[in-house]
Amino acid sequence: MVNLNINKKKKKRQTHFNSNNKAPYMSCPSTCQHPLMSRYFMLHIFSYILCISHIQAMPGLKLLRFLSIIVLLNIAAGSTRIMASPPAVKGAYWPSWSQTFPPSVIDTSLFTHIYYAFLSPNNVTFKFEIPDSTAALLHNFATTLHRKDPPVKTLISIAGGGADPKLFARMASEAKSRKVFINSAIEVARRFGFDGLDLDWEFPKDPKEMQDLGQLFEEWRNVIQTEAKSTKKPPLLLTAAVYFSVEFLWAETYRKFPVEPMKKNLDWINVMCYDYHGSWDTTATGAQALLYDPKSNISTSYGLRSWIKAGMPPQMVVMGLPLYGRTWKLKDPNVNGIGAPAVGVGPGEEGVLTYSQVEKFNKENGATVVYDVETVSTYSYVGTSWIGYDDELSTTTKLGFAQALGLRGYFFWALSFDAGWKISTQASRAWASDE
Ligand SMILES: *[C@@H]1O[C@H](CO)[C@@H](O)[C@H](O)[C@H]1NC(C)=O
Ligand SMILES: *[C@@H]1O[C@H](CO)[C@@H](O)[C@H](O)[C@H]1NC(C)=O
Repeated sequence: MVNLNINKKKKKRQTHFNSNNKAPYMSCPSTCQHPLMSRYFMLHIFSYILCISHIQAMPGLKLLRFLSIIVLLNIAAGSTRIMASPPAVKGAYWPSWSQTFPPSVIDTSLFTHIYYAFLSPNNVTFKFEIPDSTAALLHNFATTLHRKDPPVKTLISIAGGGADPKLFARMASEAKSRKVFINSAIEVARRFGFDGLDLDWEFPKDPKEMQDLGQLFEEWRNVIQTEAKSTKKPPLLLTAAVYFSVEFLWAETYRKFPVEPMKKNLDWINVMCYDYHGSWDTTATGAQALLYDPKSNISTSYGLRSWIKAGMPPQMVVMGLPLYGRTWKLKDPNVNGIGAPAVGVGPGEEGVLTYSQVEKFNKENGATVVYDVETVSTYSYVGTSWIGYDDELSTTTKLGFAQALGLRGYFFWALSFDAGWKISTQASRAWASDE
């Protein structure tokens, strides 16, 4: 049993899983071809060569294993095809509490959609009560980002990792409260000039709440369509931030997201492909957002495929990328791979460092940086400090994977963590466009 923290902020989630499993791969005829596959193949080869030439320590790398990953990927990716694709989503969440990172400093050429994080309704009336200070932030956010060159779309993200999931469970359980919530959310989005709404309820806790979530989206979309008709404005976007996997296989209570109503009523889903390992398990280091886990299903490749297998069209799936790392204190400085014994958290508050802080830490302390080909993740260590994170290379490789699956795009948590726009710039360039 491990704890799997999947929240953006601080909450813990109990999970159970059997550790000697293998990630399943979709099958498809060997004749499958994919226009982006060769590009992805080249990228992976490229990252492989890059790391042989740059990094002395390459623990656990076996060429055979690496080649088999490529072959399996080829097969998996061949089963989806990009049709006339809607424009890519390059999203990012903006933490409204970050005092030092106003919307005016955002480089909008790197993004298409920016989410204001977060708003929550009153926990009794389910209406949004906006204090003057928040009203000023919302107004400034939407206005500034729409006036930038180029402009980006803005969405209000509701709930978030720090919100009380029970509030949303109560709201979604009755037609009357759903209606109040929906009308109030739409009114707030329009009042401040936003282009859409995003729900980040972490998470419905049982099958009944999952069903209520589906009902909520059904009614929400109806009201959005009606409102758009009567105001003659483009309909608001409606999106949701979701768990990395469509099912909660490891939790005490099995439940699965209501794919049908989500597919019918949302514009896309933001899949939170991170927080697989962290301070809730200090016995071993972990790659918190790894693409492949040879030992378990808790990985981005498994999670994204689970959504697609469950019927979510790839074009409605947006892959989440972390702009932060998670740290551990090694038991033995000489045993420093992924899964190495640890005795606590490493640098950073609760073992979390933003990408900018990781870079600074590595530089100041002369840390050894390792790109791990097997998992597609990056880690660094020096002394007993160990940091698992994503750099430009691991991010780019994941983006290649997402494109090969035919996904709609990617999003970052969170904007201010990559102060020099390094990863954001690299990601925007790497996302090859078909147009
Ligand atoms: C991993 O996922 C596959 C398919 O969903 C399943 O058959 C397998 O039992 C899972 N492994 C574990 C350990 O949960
Ligand atoms: C609503 O929020 C208030 C203030 O945070 C809290 O004291 C109260 O217990 C909450 N009510 C419910 C029903 O959760």
